[in-house]
Amino acid sequence: MKKLLKNTISKNQLIVNCRRMWPYIKPYWFRAGLGVALTVPVGALDGAVAMFLKPFMDKVMIDKQPHFSAMIPFLIVGFTVVQGILIYSSNYFNTWVANKITIGVKRKLYAKLLSMDTSYFDKNNSGTIVFRYSNDAELASTGLVNNTKQFLSKLFSSISLVCVLLYNSWQLALIAVAVLGLFVYPMTLVRRKMKEILTKTVGNLSYIITIYNETFAGNKTIRSFTLEEEFKHRFHHVTDMSFTLAMKMVKGTNWLSPLMHVIMSIGVALVIGGGSYLIVSGKITSGNFVAFIAALMMLYTPLKSVGNNYIAIQNSFLAIDRIFEILDLQPTIKDGQTAKELKEVKKGITFDHVHFEYVPGREVLHDINLEIPVGNTIALVGNSGGGKTTISALIPRLYEVSKGAIKIDGSDIKNISQKSLRQQIAMVFQDNFLFSGTIRENILLGNGSADEKTIWEALKNACLDEFVKELPQGLETEIGERGILLSGGQKQRLAIARAFVKNAPVVILDEATSALDNKSERVVQEALDNLMKNRTVIVIAHRLSTVQNADKIVVINDGKIVESGKHEDLIKLNGAYAALYSMQFKDPKKA
Ligand SMILES: Nc1ncnc2c1ncn2[C@@H]1O[C@H](COP(=O)(O)OP(=O)(O)OP(=O)(O)O)[C@@H](O)[C@H]1O
Ligand SMILES: [Mg+2]
Repeated sequence: MKKLLKNTISKNQLIVNCRRMWPYIKPYWFRAGLGVALTVPVGALDGAVAMFLKPFMDKVMIDKQPHFSAMIPFLIVGFTVVQGILIYSSNYFNTWVANKITIGVKRKLYAKLLSMDTSYFDKNNSGTIVFRYSNDAELASTGLVNNTKQFLSKLFSSISLVCVLLYNSWQLALIAVAVLGLFVYPMTLVRRKMKEILTKTVGNLSYIITIYNETFAGNKTIRSFTLEEEFKHRFHHVTDMSFTLAMKMVKGTNWLSPLMHVIMSIGVALVIGGGSYLIVSGKITSGNFVAFIAALMMLYTPLKSVGNNYIAIQNSFLAIDRIFEILDLQPTIKDGQTAKELKEVKKGITFDHVHFEYVPGREVLHDINLEIPVGNTIALVGNSGGGKTTISALIPRLYEVSKGAIKIDGSDIKNISQKSLRQQIAMVFQDNFLFSGTIRENILLGNGSADEKTIWEALKNACLDEFVKELPQGLETEIGERGILLSGGQKQRLAIARAFVKNAPVVILDEATSALDNKSERVVQEALDNLMKNRTVIVIAHRLSTVQNADKIVVINDGKIVESGKHEDLIKLNGAYAALYSMQFKDPKKA
């Protein structure tokens, strides 16, 4: 009973999912229909060929009619030509439709991916994303259309052949059709088994893609730590797993075709036995019998592949299941219906009793209260892992606060449209992401409509203009994937230039200068100082020069604000900040 229930639910799910696929097929319904319709005559022609054997046998072989035998060569060629044209046209339309559907599904999935929260990307690895957002779309649409086409053409061929069977001898046909009923249960079994194995296969394939991505992005680390053996080992492990799963799949499902083979041969045996009796007793002609056997043999071939075809179609249906699982995901951070546009920041940003946790039950920010008046520079300092970057990520609402609120000019940022909120903020991260393409393209990402003058001003302010001028291809220089062709400091200054052209009134800087030598640190510092002029700034500072000039320094330790005030006051207080200061003072690299 339980098993039965499970099966019905999954069947309902199948119908629901098919209905949900319809909007993707609808725009192309005519060509899709045509492609499918063309499979009908392709299949039916098989029946015609078999049917033809009856008059051939009775009129040519037995009655010896000469004009009939003269027609035969023409008919054979004629049939094949017509069938060939139909097969070609049907393939053309089906490929066209399959690709259009794949593109539609992929675009929808990609839009969903872009709409997901930052926390979604924290939780999923790149392999899962590639597999589930790209491969599944392909598997679902192309697989579905191609296999449905094949399935239908074989189905119609089977139907036409069954008609031939019925015409020639209904008694024998009943035997042959009854045998087909034996297929139903094994097909259900296969479906269940596949679902179980495929879930594991998807996980494994995703992991393989992740390994490739990490090998690419982390190749320097792999080389310098001589991790080649370790990675080889990991790769061997997952590929072994692939092998095991592939074999499990074959073991669990591929008995379907041979089983059909055996069942069919039982059918053929019964029919030949019964047929011989019917001929001898004069109930059917030898023409009937020959046509019947030919039709049965022709029926046998497509039915054999219906088994494999069925497996492939199931595969597509399971991919469709996974696609809708993704399309049903909802980002937790969404614009409310009454979300307003933020035109400018007039008074400032306020943290009002803000609590936050990345992982439920593990709070990383506890009761943060903070005023950031417009035009001020606020510096966040404190121990590593204390929560500074987290605080800065909450302002553009990359994550949602768990308790309390962040307000801009008194209104909760949850009531502001995300787009307008983020347009007011320029961020320079601890690890900046540059995109493959040219220097110009990367700067324009800050503001697509920036003109030549603005770009060069931004480069000058970011202390990058001289470097770019010296490049033979200047602004059109390719910087490689993730900006790999630039130095650490150049990458940072390019990110600063990108923030410059955005020209947002609020700037968030997460300084990462420990990787830089003193000279480039000074250049980056100059660029940052330029960026901070006349703006509201939240700076996570590791250098005391920035801190000393800040309007307010906030010390964050272990997710709590422990002190705040001006540099001189905090030194006088002789608390956490003073300790940090004297520690850095002793280490001239950081001072
Ligand atoms: N995406 C994440 N998912 C789960 N936990 C996270 C995530 N990012 C940071 N954390 C945790 O949150 C805490 C605060 O991290 P955060 O990056 O804000 O520290 P930080 O003050 O910026 O440190 P640093 O000075 O080293 O940059 C840390 O304990 C960290 O492990
Ligand atoms: Mg940080």
